[in-house]
Amino acid sequence: MPEFRRLLPVIGPVGRGHTGRSAMTCQYRCGNACDHPVPNESENPYFGDIVTTGLSRRGLMRAGALVVGAAGAGLAGAAPAFAEAADPAPELPEVETLTAPAAGGALTFKPIPPNQLDTLVVPNGYDSAVVIRWGDPVVPGAPAFDVHRQTWQAQARQFGYNNDYLTILPLDRHCHRALLVTNHEYTNEELMFPGFTSLDALTVDQLKVAMAAHGLSVLEIERVGDSGQWAPVGRGPRRYNRRITALETAFTVVGPAAGSPLLRTAADPAGKTVIGTLNNCSGGTTPWGTVLSGEENFNQYFVGGDQAPAELKPKLARYGIDVTVRYPSGNRKWDRADSRFDLAVNPNEAHRFGWVVELDPYTPGSRPRKHTALGRFKHEGAATTLSRNGRAVVYLGDDERFDYLYKFVSDEPMDRGHSQRARQHNLRLLESGTLYVAKFDFTSAAEIDGTGKLPADGAFNGRGTWIPLVRGTTSLVPGMSVEEVLVFTRLAGDKVGATKMDRPEDVETNPKTGKVYAVMTNNTQRGTPGKPPADEVNPRNANKHGHIVEITEDGGDNGAESFSWDLLLVCGDPKDPSTYFAGYDKTNVSPISCPDNVAFDGAGNLWIATDGNALGSNDGLFAVPLEGPERGHVKQFLTVPYGAETCGPYVAADGRSVFVAVQHPGEITGATLDKPASTWPDGDFAKPGVAVSWRLDGRPVGT
Ligand code: FEO
Ligand code: CA
Ligand code: CA
Repeated sequence: MPEFRRLLPVIGPVGRGHTGRSAMTCQYRCGNACDHPVPNESENPYFGDIVTTGLSRRGLMRAGALVVGAAGAGLAGAAPAFAEAADPAPELPEVETLTAPAAGGALTFKPIPPNQLDTLVVPNGYDSAVVIRWGDPVVPGAPAFDVHRQTWQAQARQFGYNNDYLTILPLDRHCHRALLVTNHEYTNEELMFPGFTSLDALTVDQLKVAMAAHGLSVLEIERVGDSGQWAPVGRGPRRYNRRITALETAFTVVGPAAGSPLLRTAADPAGKTVIGTLNNCSGGTTPWGTVLSGEENFNQYFVGGDQAPAELKPKLARYGIDVTVRYPSGNRKWDRADSRFDLAVNPNEAHRFGWVVELDPYTPGSRPRKHTALGRFKHEGAATTLSRNGRAVVYLGDDERFDYLYKFVSDEPMDRGHSQRARQHNLRLLESGTLYVAKFDFTSAAEIDGTGKLPADGAFNGRGTWIPLVRGTTSLVPGMSVEEVLVFTRLAGDKVGATKMDRPEDVETNPKTGKVYAVMTNNTQRGTPGKPPADEVNPRNANKHGHIVEITEDGGDNGAESFSWDLLLVCGDPKDPSTYFAGYDKTNVSPISCPDNVAFDGAGNLWIATDGNALGSNDGLFAVPLEGPERGHVKQFLTVPYGAETCGPYVAADGRSVFVAVQHPGEITGATLDKPASTWPDGDFAKPGVAVSWRLDGRPVGT
């Protein structure tokens, strides 16, 4: 057993309120959210007793010609509204698709057991490799990583920290080159800086390293031989490679709230340009070939809430910003590097984060945008599909205990053409539309007692309504303007009686069926004194292990305003009677806890990544069929190294590769860079990175 196991507890002290998650995770991930009051204290009634009343990324691959044509068209004449023309528009290869339609099928792999190994564990017959890790060069010419001499200028050109969302976009029709686009959600300074003692002891330059390690990366990758392995392109101009950071990158604010007085600051009196993006968690890939990224726990970057204007304090508090002290528990101390993170000086700066951002990775130098039409909350991800009449439908989760599930439907349909005009049209699709919040109704409300006991009708299920908050430039929320609804979207959800959920994380649409899968990761405060009790869509009190909601939009149209729903999984140890695996024989499923990010393979199987496994194992990646007799048969495909969370995930369109983002390996309370709890992947100290697994026989993963 390695030395670190004797130095550190196998599972470090858990964070308050987060069973299974280390205290270090609580501090760095969500700014010790558990120390702070639940932000949703709205009177928004409990509805348990009320009447029982796309194209995803996979679609993008199916529509590859359209995507590539559109991207190519855009590149031919660089979108002036979005491009900074830092780089001449390149020739984008004509691409049909990354590969042929997925050859996925029944999931026949032998599941791996739960474990706490400090390595990536994959099933027999598979291999895995690191694609890129923290510090590796992204921008050509970036300095080699030297953890003892790190500078923010180097970090701004190297792969960032704590990769979360990842997607793959094709660069050729032969399935040999592609773009890997990755989010960098947050930083673990104690695991990044040798000799770390405290955030207060970091130099301003070190704080700027952390800021430069946030954001996104775009990286050209290529297939290794004819295998399912992929690696960075190591030669040539690599003109798509770029870093987006919290430190330097300018974003244009678009949509109905752009320029609002609520978004104006001394540095940006127009309220239309924001430097940086924060806490980019999950994301999504649009059918027009751009990448969406959710700004999540932005609250932890701000201090001075106690000195904010009195009228703003309730609104800041609704977003988890502590307005009672200058330095809340868990805050990042970035105010020492940039006073805009001090709300005593710049109270509106907080309103400039918490958005969905859109990046066009096919246009080097293009300026990313923040979309106000998609509302402001702790955005987990943004899963785009198309309605029956071709409008963009984006599903959105607000990852906070007792917060809401949303969707956006664009006013305009997507233009499937390949012209420059079509490209420009699609790039503006998310700037105007209808923003909805979900209200769930129940069939068995009276039977829900918080134990997870299945109701007599044999299902946690019901109907639901998408309540419109804004249509175009019209507010539908009494007493709130459009700008107020979009900037203070949580308050709008409170007013219309949205259903309080158990931390909505990733949401994805099944490319085979159009059904929507919304992941509730956990909520240990459900049903505790003073908090909302269990309801049919959040059926367990003190919900440690989370659950997954399956939504079937009326008429099979993702643009519909009503839906039916049921629970696919109620997670945990299958021996726990409160668990539910879609009715599948529980003696034959893998234990699963705290589902977070999800993805689909070409056969329509759901792949589930976990965060904060509360059953004692490392986090992992699981796969489960959704249709037929195998529905609910959860099997564990891989585990990530010790202390890490499984992010991504992404199953390549040819089915031959599954990518995962290994986030915060070694994030165990008490660990430091000098005394690491994980030495993945290189044997020295922990480095977050993207890994790929593939079958040795070259056939589709999972089958
Ligand atoms: Fe960053 Fe909701 O996980
Ligand atoms: Ca029921
Ligand atoms: Ca997440």
